[in-house]
This record gives sequence, structure tokens and C-alpha cells, in this order.
Amino acid sequence: MAKDKTPKNAGNGKTQMHKTMNPISENIRGAMVELLQAHLGTAIDITYQTKQAHWNVKGMNFIAVHELFDDLHDLTEGYVDDIAERLTAIGGQAHGTVQASVQNSLLDAYPLDLVKSEDHLRRLTESYAKWSAAVEKGIEEASEAGDPLTEDLLTGIGRGLDKSIYFMESHFQG
Ligand SMILES: [Fe+2]
Repeated sequence: MAKDKTPKNAGNGKTQMHKTMNPISENIRGAMVELLQAHLGTAIDITYQTKQAHWNVKGMNFIAVHELFDDLHDLTEGYVDDIAERLTAIGGQAHGTVQASVQNSLLDAYPLDLVKSEDHLRRLTESYAKWSAAVEKGIEEASEAGDPLTEDLLTGIGRGLDKSIYFMESHFQG
């Protein structure tokens, strides 16, 4: 693991910022970059958790679940770009590598040995739910900081995550 080689910047006042004419104050931008850095790492992590499920799933409803995971992957890949580009738009430096994401992700590692469709659906739902809860906290943080555009970005992502949870959870509800 190269974990210790990745500089951890969140919350220590050393966030790398670029000059910008963006009207939000530098304090708030710095706080929002730290917030978004964690969500960028999480988005990259979950994007490949979803592909892990897409590639390895076997069992009942194989084709439907295999294709569902790919559709969900495409959505989270869009979130990666949206988060990174909000972060850079407010003067931040995106930490968008896989190795940085190992450090920054809010999620637990996805098991490598899962096979059955129900196991992937349940475990991936856990990851989405964990991220959704963090997104909700982020929405409050952005609102309190006075950055309605970051708040709006996270709100859209949260709505998408909850829909993805519904799509997966419906396989084992009822
Ligand atoms: Fe594929």
C-alpha cells in the first residue's frame, strides 16, 4: 500500500489554492475545496466499486444486474467530473488519481471476492448509502458556509445516489 506516500491536506490549512476571480471569499473556497476533495476521492472509489460489481457478478438476473451496474457506473463517473471541476472552478487543485482517492475516500474497501448478484447489490447499496449520508452532511456544510453552487452540486448528486439505491434495493425489498 502506498497510502503513507499520499499527502493528506484536508483540514490542516495547507490546501493548495489558485488565484481566481471567483466571487466567493478565499476562506470559504478553501473549506469547500477540502469538502469536495473528500467527495472526489469517494466518487472515484465508488465508480470502480460499481465496475467491480459489473465485472464479477454472477447468478440470477445476470444480464439485468450486470447492465444496471454499468449504468450506475456511468452516473458516478459523471459525478467525478462534476465534483473535480467545481473544485477547480473555485481555485482548488483536484487530487484525482486513484492513489489519492485511496487516501481521501469516505468509503470502506469493497470486498474483492463477492460473486452472487444479491451480495453485490447489498454491499454496493451500503457504499451508496454511506456516501449519500456524507453528501447530506456536505449539503449542510456548503449551505452554512454560504456556497449555494456547491450546495446545489451536492444536492443533485445526493438525489442521484438515492435513486441508485432505490434501483439496487428493489431487488431485495418486499
Ligand atoms: Fe462492461
